[in-house]
Amino acid sequence: MSEGRDARPIGVFDSGLGGLTVLRALHERLPGEDLIYFGDTARVPYGTKGERTVQAFARQDAGFLLAKDVKLVVVACNTASAFALEHLTEVSAVPVIGVIEPGVEAALRLGRGDRGNRVGVVGTSGTIRSGRYQEGLARGLEGADGVPPDCIMAVECPLFVPLVEEGLLEHALTRLAIKEYLTDLRSTGVETLILGCTHYPLLKPEIASFMGSDTVLVDSAETLARAAENILRENGLLRHDPAGDPTRGKLSYYLSDIPWKFAEVGARFLGRPITGVRTVSLAEMEAAGQALG
Ligand code: DGL
Repeated sequence: MSEGRDARPIGVFDSGLGGLTVLRALHERLPGEDLIYFGDTARVPYGTKGERTVQAFARQDAGFLLAKDVKLVVVACNTASAFALEHLTEVSAVPVIGVIEPGVEAALRLGRGDRGNRVGVVGTSGTIRSGRYQEGLARGLEGADGVPPDCIMAVECPLFVPLVEEGLLEHALTRLAIKEYLTDLRSTGVETLILGCTHYPLLKPEIASFMGSDTVLVDSAETLARAAENILRENGLLRHDPAGDPTRGKLSYYLSDIPWKFAEVGARFLGRPITGVRTVSLAEMEAAGQALG
């Protein structure tokens, strides 16, 4: 297969509908690629669950996509990236990319300012307690005279996910939660703040207004899309033919349940209505996990 012509789809999975923010960023960046999305809506949230459970679910999610002959697996969920990326990389025959490394790289690139490289990260309880963002940041900051203990600030923000799902994006409740979680971060003067959860890009305007213009927000959806493009290019897996029609990529959606507010919540994340969704049973998911060997 010649470079630039690999027509296999890219597989994207998340614990639910939040990863549609990543799908949207990928589609904007790589409009010529076919994208298959799997959202584990029957078992969301992952952010409150333990490592073993998230790993087992993520293995099934990736297995489902690999059975569809994808050329790249995108782990759009931060919690699954934190707990399962290494395992998925070992069992997958195609490249697997998660959101954490691109987010860390972007934060380090954007944050070489005059305030001692202070970086903040917010995410689900699972993501923050896994310590993965903190480890990545510490490794990256080591070049700059060791890492003073107050350089990396990580905060779990468990209420943000339900607030976004309820559509309370510019609401007093959300502003209160932002104040509750981010006041200490703001007072320490972080230069960059990683939005380490699929749902948080939708809170960007409120978080930006609370943190002030001196803090740069790193959106994991955008940074991941850029990293995915690089991986495809480096591995000769891009489909997009610059001379061809850049709008031909197809989007397909699979979910393990159709939640009550799925149309409304999905459109909020995707930025337009979702159509043609197919459901996958949990028995199929379990079989997909087992098939990975
Ligand atoms: N997709 C999850 C993440 O990015 C957020 C929702 C959940 O807890 O499952 O961590």
